[in-house]
Amino acid sequence: MKTIAVLTSGGDAPGMNAAVRAVVRTACENGMKVYGVIRGYNGLINGDFVEMDLRSVSDIINRGGTILYSARSAEFATEEGMQKAIDQCHKWGIEGVVVIGGDGSFRGARDLSERGIPCVGVPGTIDNDIACCDYTIGYDTCLNTIMDMVDRIRDTSESHDRCSIVEVMGRRAGYLALNAGIACGATSILIPEVPFDIEKHVIERMKKTQKTDKKHFIIIVAEGCGIDLEKLTKEIQEKTGVESRYTILGHVQRGGYATVKDRVMATRMGNYAVKLLMNNIGNRVVAAQKEEVVDYDIFEALNMTKSIDMDLYNVAHEVSI
Ligand code: F6P
Repeated sequence: MKTIAVLTSGGDAPGMNAAVRAVVRTACENGMKVYGVIRGYNGLINGDFVEMDLRSVSDIINRGGTILYSARSAEFATEEGMQKAIDQCHKWGIEGVVVIGGDGSFRGARDLSERGIPCVGVPGTIDNDIACCDYTIGYDTCLNTIMDMVDRIRDTSESHDRCSIVEVMGRRAGYLALNAGIACGATSILIPEVPFDIEKHVIERMKKTQKTDKKHFIIIVAEGCGIDLEKLTKEIQEKTGVESRYTILGHVQRGGYATVKDRVMATRMGNYAVKLLMNNIGNRVVAAQKEEVVDYDIFEALNMTKSIDMDLYNVAHEVSI
């Protein structure tokens, strides 16, 4: 392949820029032409392309967000939208596309690949919910942001002998909640993957620790649990007698300077993706497995399932009491 494109799609994640940089630089250094697609699949449909060179990606390795902008494209999900995107690729001579995003973005990459435009997916999402990967770009930065925020909440929670209930992101997955919960010493961690009972997993645990003179509490709730936080907060206060407050961290979790891990892994994965396309290998997903960068067939990757590490969950349960 001589001409490729790169796009970022779905929720942005810190480290996406490092991945874009790696894609552009690897392509340029290997004599390829590379286009940046603006606003994900919408840009592909509209032919919103910018030719990139070595300097187009200077000074972005540290920046959160994505310089290519991102979108969740409803039009691309239609046959007409998909056809427009394919026509644009043909018009601009684009032979392969690197798609940086989550599993929704990979489904788009699969569909494009099926219709003759080879794509390589690079996992970028704070949720860490891509089955073939044990780590996704942005996850590490997000965890550190959550830890920083909850540490701050802990200061005020402790000063007032309160219970602080904190909801963290994770549309369907509890990886952020579980790991942040451990790092922040949460008394209870509620995640969608493990059935929970508020009485047993929150109230009883708090009462047990109250007997050991514990006076302030952190409860981490994954967004994917769909819990009514106001109701939960009232219930905790009424049943334990501990004044309680809740905080929804929200989009603060998606921004900020990427951590070392996110920058390094994003660079490795972006480089790997281009090497695949250079060798005319498409329809793949780049994945991180135990710090190694590997790749999977895109169809296979989308059919894989991933489960929560129950050993880790049990450690949290035993230690944070
Ligand atoms: O997929 C990443 C994510 O941040 C999820 O954790 C969250 O549920 C969702 O995106 C929020 O999406 P939006 O920014 O479109 O509201």
